[in-house]
Amino acid sequence: MTLKQRIIDEITVTGPMPFEQFMEVSLYDDDGFFGGGTLRSEKGGDFLTSPEVSTLFGETLAGYVNDVRDRIGEPFRVVEAASGSGSLLRPLLSVIEVDAMAVEASPAARAALSDLVPVAEELPRSVRGVIIANELLDNLPMALAQKVEGTWRERWVGADGDGLAFVDAPPRPEVIAWLEAYSGPVPDGGWVEVQLAAREWVSGALASLGAGSLLLIDYGDTADNLLPRRQDGTLRTYRAHHLGPHPLEEPGETDITADVNFTALLDLQPSATLRRQDDFLTSFGLRDRLSELRREELEAARAGDDSTRLKLRTLKTEAETLLHPRGLGDFRVLEIEKHEEPTDRAGSS
Ligand SMILES: C[S@@+](CC[C@H](N)C(=O)[O-])C[C@H]1O[C@@H](n2cnc3c(N)ncnc32)[C@H](O)[C@@H]1O
Repeated sequence: MTLKQRIIDEITVTGPMPFEQFMEVSLYDDDGFFGGGTLRSEKGGDFLTSPEVSTLFGETLAGYVNDVRDRIGEPFRVVEAASGSGSLLRPLLSVIEVDAMAVEASPAARAALSDLVPVAEELPRSVRGVIIANELLDNLPMALAQKVEGTWRERWVGADGDGLAFVDAPPRPEVIAWLEAYSGPVPDGGWVEVQLAAREWVSGALASLGAGSLLLIDYGDTADNLLPRRQDGTLRTYRAHHLGPHPLEEPGETDITADVNFTALLDLQPSATLRRQDDFLTSFGLRDRLSELRREELEAARAGDDSTRLKLRTLKTEAETLLHPRGLGDFRVLEIEKHEEPTDRAGSS
């Protein structure tokens, strides 16, 4: 039986489900997009992320990790959540020696990572170092809401014959609270993805982090900057590097995602900052590396060394892709530093 039919059967028995429950099943069930046996984040897979574009991404992040290590010293560990195929950690670990582990929800990804670092299904309780996640938050289950005649309604998933359809539902209190705090002035008819799980995940990661920093990279923006996209909302699917069908069409067969509303994360810690990916990578040397690559490519061309020239040209194109101001460079980097809790000098009796 298909995953879609199982969802329809469940709804027929228990009634419509909140969208985040549908998204959880569609992505992380044993037959789900990430829960099944296929490794999704690969060059030949369904989407192309920064670490899959180039080893330069992980190599550049190694500079960031080194800076944090210089700040807080040992013991120090890098924990990458949502590591996918390991395309960020592998180059990072090729340029610096550091204790590292991966956290992955997908069994196929855990299998792909097991030769590289220790792998867990959940974040460890206590981390001193850096927690990194690239394109995790946009894949965490979210509720859906629509503004109708000035008030909020939720959109749940119901069964409609042999298909699935959005159904109207009154908003739950936690959904209303999030919308009031973080959606901004959404126009009538506008759709909002209510990212409660993203906030919960970041809160949990901050609770685990004794000292060091949390670095989260994703597409999205502040609530204000996302407002022009609210009429239709930002929920979408991907398959084989292209936009896929409607999210209710083929659960388990497509990635389901939406732009991350970073405003709902920035208030979790006063030290939180938001930057563009191109600025962030530039500050850790990628633009200098790009200039170097251009120079070296020219030298190889002058020397008539075609194979070196082609290798350098590929790397140069990859660096340009990571920095592209309307592409990956436009992603956002949320950084939250945490400092060691001061020890209680008075002590307790
Ligand atoms: C879009 S992929 C990104 C993979 C990789 N970071 C990259 O950039 O290529 C999202 C990944 O997040 C993983 N994931 C989702 N929820 C997770 C969670 N709570 N903890 C760890 N990994 C999770 C999925 O299994 C999937 O591999």
